[in-house]
Amino acid sequence: MFVWSKLSSLKWMDVWEEMFAGEQRAVMTRLPGKKTIRLEVYCEKKSEAQKIFKEFGGSVRELKAQNWAAMGSELPEPVKIGKALLLVGTDKAAELVEIKQSNPGREVISIPPELAFGTGHHATTATALRMLVDFAKSRAGTEWSMIDLGTGSGVLAIAAEKLGAGSAWGCDFDAMALRAAAKNLKRNKTKKVVLEEMDVFKWKPGKKVDCVMANIFHDILEKVFPKIAKAVRKDGMVVVSGILKSQAAGCLAAGEEAGLVFEEVVTKGKWVTARGRLK
Ligand SMILES: C[S@@+](CC[C@H](N)C(=O)[O-])C[C@H]1O[C@@H](n2cnc3c(N)ncnc32)[C@H](O)[C@@H]1O
Repeated sequence: MFVWSKLSSLKWMDVWEEMFAGEQRAVMTRLPGKKTIRLEVYCEKKSEAQKIFKEFGGSVRELKAQNWAAMGSELPEPVKIGKALLLVGTDKAAELVEIKQSNPGREVISIPPELAFGTGHHATTATALRMLVDFAKSRAGTEWSMIDLGTGSGVLAIAAEKLGAGSAWGCDFDAMALRAAAKNLKRNKTKKVVLEEMDVFKWKPGKKVDCVMANIFHDILEKVFPKIAKAVRKDGMVVVSGILKSQAAGCLAAGEEAGLVFEEVVTKGKWVTARGRLK
């Protein structure tokens, strides 16, 4: 594994976000207390990392196994989603007990930063989680099910179980993300979540579910909308995220053509998240 990295001023964050939109291997971290961001792209091959270096400068290094532990020493700030969820970067049992005790009423989810998207810090994840929290409230005391397309760290499926889902199924085509997600399921003791390594284009919807979530980029969504519409129950909820603002109109129109209607569309920075249902 090789990592390309570069430090940049915070003011260029939007530009980098645009540049790396759709780049699943990119990680952008704001350095604590500084007006600086660190950009990283994780690559299987040195040649891939060097290609990015040629274009943008920075540096390339090999990531040895022992570097992973060091990476974990800079934990991201916790993320609160309403009064229902608190996402934290630690997986240390004693710290988690303390966090739970000082946050009564909140479900605490442990997602240490690893090679999978979905710590809750990105606008696309945070908004999708907020919509999930509202949905869970409306289904309190009932048995509900969810599907998470492009699960990454597993964060949405884990949150679904914590919020009361009776079952959750998710998929991702990135084996590395799924390995991180499997660890997250154990860390969070979410035994009702089942994750599979699968390309969403190969996914065949089976039994209908109450909630389908997909934080997965507009071009994929546009093609997968008919399957999403097939998978969701008549009174269920669909949440799509990961849509660039500039692509939102076309993307959501494709969803409507597939039989969905969007009732809430939230824009945060360059990103759009939409909540919908069957027409
Ligand atoms: C933006 S991340 C979302 C992660 C997490 N669900 C969240 O909300 O934070 C998108 C995820 O979709 C996965 N993905 C992209 N295209 C896919 C495809 N065709 N099939 C399955 N997974 C895909 C990526 O590997 C990545 O983990």
